[in-house]
Amino acid sequence: MNPSPTPAAQRATPHDADLVVFGGTGDLSMRKLLPALYHCDRDGRLAPQTRIIALSRGGLTDDDLRGKVDAQVRAAVPEGDDPAVWRRFLARLRHVPVDVHDDGAAHEGWRALAGLLAGHEDRDRIFYLASPPMTFGPFCRQVQQAGLVTPRSRVVLEKPLGRDLASARQINDEVGAIFAESQIYRIDHYLGKETVQNLLVLRFANAFLEPIWNSLWIDHVQISVTETVGTPGRRGYYDQAGALRDMVQNHLLQLLCLVAMEPPARNDRESIRDEKLKVLQALRPISGSEADRFTVRGQYAEAPGMPGYLDEPDRSPPTDASYRVETFTAIRAEVKNWRWAGVPFYLRTGKRLPSRRSEIVVQFKDVPHSIYPGGSPNRLVLRLQPSEGIDLHIMAKEPGAGEVTLRPVPLGLSFARTFGTRVPDAYERLLMDVMDGNPTLFMRRDEVEAAWRWIDPILATWESAGTPPEPYPAGSAGPPSAHELLGRSGRAWHEEEPA
Ligand code: BG6
Repeated sequence: MNPSPTPAAQRATPHDADLVVFGGTGDLSMRKLLPALYHCDRDGRLAPQTRIIALSRGGLTDDDLRGKVDAQVRAAVPEGDDPAVWRRFLARLRHVPVDVHDDGAAHEGWRALAGLLAGHEDRDRIFYLASPPMTFGPFCRQVQQAGLVTPRSRVVLEKPLGRDLASARQINDEVGAIFAESQIYRIDHYLGKETVQNLLVLRFANAFLEPIWNSLWIDHVQISVTETVGTPGRRGYYDQAGALRDMVQNHLLQLLCLVAMEPPARNDRESIRDEKLKVLQALRPISGSEADRFTVRGQYAEAPGMPGYLDEPDRSPPTDASYRVETFTAIRAEVKNWRWAGVPFYLRTGKRLPSRRSEIVVQFKDVPHSIYPGGSPNRLVLRLQPSEGIDLHIMAKEPGAGEVTLRPVPLGLSFARTFGTRVPDAYERLLMDVMDGNPTLFMRRDEVEAAWRWIDPILATWESAGTPPEPYPAGSAGPPSAHELLGRSGRAWHEEEPA
């Protein structure tokens, strides 16, 4: 990973590229990709001739697209943005009206795209598929038939890659028939978050943690990604995904890998991914009655002032799938290897919870023999967002004469205070990595498939149970079973706000 304090300085000189975004006027593009690209442009990381070509069904002209981006995206760029840079950025935008169902190289949309790209075969050509996974294979076939795949082409696939192992394999086969594995970038934006990369630096650039990073010293690990948002307007996608596919199969399992992996021999594109894969392969399968004991699924229900999942405003009314889908899940996972034997990894994610917080909590074991009453074990909290930072909770003596009173106090590192710079959005890092041809932070085919191999039996058990998820009031801390999952071994979810 490139843990540079000055990422721009480490980058290769940018070279001209054509970034072709399928789903180019959609939500992801407007909310994440275009603001990230603007920031890259502002920081001098886009070469002068680099173009951003949005593909969508809408019959927009280039100027229509620029107007839309000006109206919708500018709000997402920071105060004080430079009008000259903004104009330069808008000038990079092109729109081509084409849809994946527009068949054949002769179709005018594909012809228009081919015309735009013609004569620029020497540039990096990046196809970014910000579209549902079932369009990945057909899109790749279309660009191939239109003669648009060059040796300098790369393709970026957004998550979720499929909805189970079989569909993920099919997509990987379809895309792999056209692009080599080295040209395929499967994105998981959590891997681009600064704090997630810092986790590796913390583990592998500091000597003191490694000797205690194992089951002798660590009691358990918690990985929580809680969100306050619900799913308004996302029913079509979310009914089919649910929290397990949307968040656990990718983001949470990737975080688990980074916590649990062995130190890689090198900081290169394959060594880190090789180690992550070994963690996924070591996950203890959960199915049948174990799924009942070790997994929890919930769905938020109406609460004062907040709609339930089924009442969220949407274009379409709830279907059977809406009643069954989980908006919350908690899982007790185990990594079956020498380092982690017997250490539970508790994963939790959900919508409409009381706070938006992504964190990894490493809970150490208690001292073997305490001479003080009232102590509590050490804890390392990695705050991924918000208030990015690291807290190591140690025991200290409260000042004062008389009886010794212990209190856990955090030794804290706040990235904002320490480094005093804007924390770049994950997409900025990842888009630049694609442009530089660096796949280290992207998921390899075998990783994605190993993750699905572990998820599939849980999904199968839930589906065969046929029971609805446990309701929890919107804005509450999730269903009671999530607390019992830890409570039955005397543990509890970490709920403290950052110091
Ligand atoms: C996306 C999920 O991958 O991640 C969303 O599809 C979720 O449902 C989002 O809200 C969370 O990302 P972040 O960066 O806001 O934590």
